[in-house]
Amino acid sequence: MKDSQPKAIYLKDYQAPDYWIDQTNLTFDLYEDHTMVTSVLSIYRNLDNKSGKQGEDNLPELVLVGDDLELISVEIDDKPFSDFKVEGGFLKILSLKESFTLKTVCRINPQENTSLEGLYKSNGMFCTQCEAEGFRKITYYLDRPDVMSRFTTRITADKTAYPVLLSNGNDIERGELDDGRHYVTWEDPFKKPSYLFALVAGDLQHVEDHFTTMSGREVTLRIFTEAHNIDQCDHAMISLKKSMKWDEEVYGREYDLDIFMIVAVDHFNMGAMENKGLNIFNSACVLASPETATDARFQRVEAIVAHEYFHNWSGNRVTCRDWFQLSLKEGFTVFRDSEFSADMNSRGVKRIEDVNVLRTAQFAEDAGPMAHPIRPESFIEISNFYTVTIYEKGAEVVRMIHGILGAEAFRKGSDLYFERHDGQAVTCEDFVKAMEDASGRDLTQFRRWYSQAGTPVLNITDEYNEDKKQYKLTIEQSCPATPGQKEKEPFHIPVRLGLLDAEGDELVLNESGATDQVLDVKQEKEVFAFDNIEERPLPSILRSFSAPVRVKYDYSREDLLFLMEHDSDHFNRWDAGQRLANSVIDEMVAAFEQGRELSVDRSLIEAFGTVINDESLDLAVKAEMLSLPSEASLAEQAVEVYPQFIHQARQQVKKAIAEAHKDSLEALWQSLNVHKPYRPEAEDIAERTLKNTCLSYLTSIEDKAMLALAEQQYHGASNMTDRFAALVSVINAGNHDRELIDEVLADFLELYHQDTNVMDQWLSVQAASPSLGTLEHILTLMQHEVFDETSPNKLRSVLGGFAGNMKQFHRTDGLGYEFLTDQLLDLDKKNPQIASRLMTPLTRWRKFEPGCRERMRKALERIKATPGLSSDVYEVVTKSL
Ligand code: PHE
Ligand code: ZN
Repeated sequence: MKDSQPKAIYLKDYQAPDYWIDQTNLTFDLYEDHTMVTSVLSIYRNLDNKSGKQGEDNLPELVLVGDDLELISVEIDDKPFSDFKVEGGFLKILSLKESFTLKTVCRINPQENTSLEGLYKSNGMFCTQCEAEGFRKITYYLDRPDVMSRFTTRITADKTAYPVLLSNGNDIERGELDDGRHYVTWEDPFKKPSYLFALVAGDLQHVEDHFTTMSGREVTLRIFTEAHNIDQCDHAMISLKKSMKWDEEVYGREYDLDIFMIVAVDHFNMGAMENKGLNIFNSACVLASPETATDARFQRVEAIVAHEYFHNWSGNRVTCRDWFQLSLKEGFTVFRDSEFSADMNSRGVKRIEDVNVLRTAQFAEDAGPMAHPIRPESFIEISNFYTVTIYEKGAEVVRMIHGILGAEAFRKGSDLYFERHDGQAVTCEDFVKAMEDASGRDLTQFRRWYSQAGTPVLNITDEYNEDKKQYKLTIEQSCPATPGQKEKEPFHIPVRLGLLDAEGDELVLNESGATDQVLDVKQEKEVFAFDNIEERPLPSILRSFSAPVRVKYDYSREDLLFLMEHDSDHFNRWDAGQRLANSVIDEMVAAFEQGRELSVDRSLIEAFGTVINDESLDLAVKAEMLSLPSEASLAEQAVEVYPQFIHQARQQVKKAIAEAHKDSLEALWQSLNVHKPYRPEAEDIAERTLKNTCLSYLTSIEDKAMLALAEQQYHGASNMTDRFAALVSVINAGNHDRELIDEVLADFLELYHQDTNVMDQWLSVQAASPSLGTLEHILTLMQHEVFDETSPNKLRSVLGGFAGNMKQFHRTDGLGYEFLTDQLLDLDKKNPQIASRLMTPLTRWRKFEPGCRERMRKALERIKATPGLSSDVYEVVTKSL
């Protein structure tokens, strides 16, 4: 908590540090009620910083940053030293030499650390989280990513309670001490910034495997967990080996230490962390077994293991100069993990999943009060900038570069980037420059993607000239104003296009015979002409979602039906169905708003029937095409959000499709309801997804017989995917069989109450349920013994689940907002990062219908008026109002 008002910092003010730290030697003495941290730093002056001051007696003061530390002693060059000041979180050292050794001893209290930044305890084990600015909660330091240092870490602790002592690098010494204590010393040969430091101490088991790198080095791989979870590590280990191999094959990147470790912890603010040689994971992102994890979780584990592993090059060997460059490592690494997942599983499905996230969460962020470019110009609290914009839009920007350069030149660019900047802390500009230098392409205009926020809109019109046999496409781009950016310069937007004739066949677009072409849109308005076109074609625009933009083209419903059936681009085929569903639901919402009823457009019902009955369709594609747009994505695309109507209209559409195609859906469900050993492979996942999509439709009909299918699947399931899907279907079928719901929930609790990650799912499905997730029920969930108010996963499950519940959270008396506000004000005192994140739904207030809008604004006003807010919550609330 800050006493004074938090202040913004600016990219334009960046200055290199006055001192560097060559070597960092740390000793941690861990005790039950405190920890002593001894830090010995070899410091030398940064001679490139010409501050105008010269000479030994006129050196700049050394300003180290620390947060909540009790400073015990200071020594310089082995002698007690007193010419220092401790002021507002800084340790200022005066009268210095060009180079010297600084030793400090600090006392900290990990047991009392509820922020989960710095050193803290989770389930009896010690662990750290230092990104972005957590290291300052451990000791006084130059806690900024451009200061890279070699670290050694000595840990001492009670041997019985903490038999395992881990840090970055290789362990070089271990031994016994008095009083039942022991120690281990670790040495990391690679220079790194403090945010990549990690320490773990606990009573942990591990699984071990090995990987031989492409140059023939043997690497030991270990995954550590509490004993009762040790049988849930296999999938993560397989994923790790696949990642190591893939990074060698696709990027030529080899692992560089003798050991690579992953530790699972239950209390973690984010998904996982790429600390050098010692990744620390939220246990929900590493543990998986067929009995406890759904397909979605298996895939998430694979993706996150890969993501953190890939950071070893894109993030650790080459790191960020400052936190404004966060997307340098995150955007690139998300692009890398997304391509990895596409290679390991179904490329088409992965693309749809990624675009869904982008279009719901990121477009909403880009249209809201926290909108920022992927390289922000300023921030108050960096923790607020671990966003879908930095990560997912950042990845789309790298994907566009990949598309513009082509795979081969892109690889040359990444090789050059890694080679040129190995061991350095660099900027997004360095990345783009390497891509330009290696490919010879000019990315000058493209760079605007880094500096301009907002989602560009393409307004597209076309005309066909019968006499000239010419088809013309006019593309106009614009970008809505975002905070601090009223006017935007045009972007360089790669638009992949195809043209379909009346039979649904692809037209040839150029001399080389291609049926698919990338239009490089660079001007505000551009016209593209295609000759020798025999009849008016139907355009398939932005194939595979070639740029993160919104496309406005006046497709009729017939056009969309045609594309759903004929487009050779899977992504656009799916997207046509989404557009159609969107327009039908929109129209219904508009009718409800005027107090009218409206039945579901038959064309949508028929189109979904065609998909259900199309036996030539790939099962994965079929499952995707049958998924209606989520409530969140409907809300994002609405001009004004009517939460109750969106929920109602979507439900009605789902039910109408189910009723019209009940027999086919049931037959399809039946045909896929076969038992075989669980494998988390793409084809099997597609079968299960499709089967469970059918079940979800069927149970939306108020029909006991359909509910019985769900009950049958629930009890007969041999894996968590099928069991959990059945549970969700029973719950979402509504309250017409409350007894069954209670019975199934109780059974599930009984079966899995000892598995905290499964309980997260049990909690979130209830909190997010339109019928069950009432405010009253949320309160009982928070009293339940499986709930833990110190666990971010539990808070996300219950409070996050509730805040995504269109019907209950947005109840018209405003009590949903009041409740969330109370919870997050309370939480802000303990874990500001999580409090700030849980506030996101409220920040979207301007988009809602007047009643909700006013009530959400009031809730935000109340937060703003609360004294002693964290900088995290302060930044979000002030920017939102
Ligand atoms: N750097 C982590 C990742 O994306 C995310 C993270 C950020 C974790 C901050 C913890 C704290 O892989
Ligand atoms: Zn990352």
